[in-house]
Amino acid sequence: MKTGIFYATNTGYTEEVADEISDTLGPNLVDTCKNIEDLELSDLQGFDVLILGIATWDAGDLPYDWALFHDQLPEHDFTGTRIVLFGLGDQVGYGETFLDAMGIIYRGFLEQGAIGNLGFWPTKAYDFQASLAAYDDKFCGLAIDQDNESHLTTERIVEWCAQIKRELEVVRLCSDNQQSVVTESERVGA
Ligand SMILES: Cc1cc2nc3c(=O)[nH]c(=O)nc-3n(C[C@H](O)[C@H](O)[C@H](O)COP(=O)(O)O)c2cc1C
Repeated sequence: MKTGIFYATNTGYTEEVADEISDTLGPNLVDTCKNIEDLELSDLQGFDVLILGIATWDAGDLPYDWALFHDQLPEHDFTGTRIVLFGLGDQVGYGETFLDAMGIIYRGFLEQGAIGNLGFWPTKAYDFQASLAAYDDKFCGLAIDQDNESHLTTERIVEWCAQIKRELEVVRLCSDNQQSVVTESERVGA
């Protein structure tokens, strides 16, 4: 499965996390890991799996480069692409809008046909009031807080990468299975 990690960053935190995720998943799984600042949204098409990194800025808003992509999303079709997200935020300083941008990007891609529900992460270890990235007791992706809990980042990444490896393996097995069902029905002329 062709897999790309794409992120934006203002102070470098999201880039560090993206690189650590890329190293943890390893080159067998990750084909590319890139900052979106010099890319077009169309460069994200053609991947089976997109791992997207988004920090929240300006009290609940998207960082500049993701905002540009978000505006262009309605002109792009991501039908069938699996999306996996990781978000950076500050639960102490911005507890009312913690990781909002991750939720905004998640919904934006789903509206263009992408498939989510991968890499969801429990909210219970975080202390925040509200988040557009929270779905009941899970975030729609890995939650990283470099401002207050950088000491937990590596262990969170390691656990989350093991989780998404398992989830992507299930996706791969299901699509292999579906493919062999199609091939078999072609063989018997169904
Ligand atoms: C002005 C400002 C506004 C921010 N707004 C939010 C916010 O609304 N929600 C949140 O979770 N984090 C917020 N943050 C925290 C950043 O998302 C966090 O520092 C992140 O790690 C930055 O990543 P980056 O440097 O890779 O862009 C804000 C930080 C600043 C300085």
